[in-house]
Amino acid sequence: MSPITLDLFADTEPEQPPKRLQIGEQSCVLRGFALPWLDPLLIALEAILAAAPFRQMVTPGGFTMSVALSSCGTWGWTTDRSGYQYTRDDPQTGNPWPEMPEVFFELAQAAAREAGFAAFVPDSCLINRYVPGAKMSLHQDKDENSYAAPIVSVSLGLPATFLFGGFERGDKSQRVPLFHGDIVVWGGVDRLRYHGVLPIKDGHHPRLGEQRINFTFRTAR
Ligand code: SIN
Ligand code: FE2
Repeated sequence: MSPITLDLFADTEPEQPPKRLQIGEQSCVLRGFALPWLDPLLIALEAILAAAPFRQMVTPGGFTMSVALSSCGTWGWTTDRSGYQYTRDDPQTGNPWPEMPEVFFELAQAAAREAGFAAFVPDSCLINRYVPGAKMSLHQDKDENSYAAPIVSVSLGLPATFLFGGFERGDKSQRVPLFHGDIVVWGGVDRLRYHGVLPIKDGHHPRLGEQRINFTFRTAR
């Protein structure tokens, strides 16, 4: 093959989307990072949901969230008329939240490390279920005792548009498309940035059907 032919081949090679997208000084999207963990992740998820099923919770303002929630780990995030809080027990069953499966922990730690946060020790994993139309309004994650640890957020199933804003609710947000297997990590100087999810569009995901599942790992206490 002549060098010219080689050059032609190089020119026609499809461009790979970047594996890591920086969205802030200490925030990034790791494309497809969760995919190698998928099978054990979904098996473990099924066991969690059998013990702590998805439910729609009410905000302190009296609105029922469109997203259904569950949790695993030592602490589970909850909301009701009296406020937001982390609890050791699932208020619906009175039992402790299911333990965080090893595969959840390892995935969260590996993603945090890849994003530049060594030694992430999550003690809480909020599990969000979005059906088409469900959304999450802009908010900050600030119910944790310390903001030293990052947030690690795993997307599975239907795609979403993630809103990544600033430090005030009214600040302009970036619109970041998220796909099955993507992980967003934000921490350090970006830890308190507003974020949310636009209404999920109708669709069918080959593995997860008509839903988007999100895991949000935190160090709560
Ligand atoms: C959240 O902020 O709790 C959820 C974010 C997401 O679903 O991507
Ligand atoms: Fe959040």
